Amino acid sequence: MRRECYVVCLLFGLSITATMASRKEASGGLIAGDLAQFAVTVHNKQSDDPLKLLAVNNGFTQVVSGGINYKIILLAVDGLTKQYQAIVFENHSQNSRKLISFIPYFS
Ligand SMILES: *[C@@H]1O[C@H](CO)[C@@H](O)[C@H](O)[C@H]1NC(C)=O
Repeated sequence: MRRECYVVCLLFGLSITATMASRKEASGGLIAGDLAQFAVTVHNKQSDDPLKLLAVNNGFTQVVSGGINYKIILLAVDGLTKQYQAIVFENHSQNSRKLISFIPYFS
């Protein structure tokens, strides 16, 4: 009886941990994916080199005066698949985004 409870409780605990971990990852991934898509869309408007976003490989945030800078390492394809580093500034007071830079990234 006690042993059963132990197993059930352990499984219950594990499933909660797994749910929390996947939630956290999902929301972080969602924000990064959204910003990466924004960066690629703006880049495509500014150049003759239309890219298609494939994946977000990494993301960093930096609090700066007036908002947040997001540095995103992403994978995109224009025939060739390459890594890019995009920096997106998000203005706190206006809730607006601006693409600061978009350059090839070599790791
Ligand atoms: C953020 O947006 C506001 C409102 O348009 C503007 O006055 C301010 O200069 C912006 N801040 C930065 C850091 O771009």
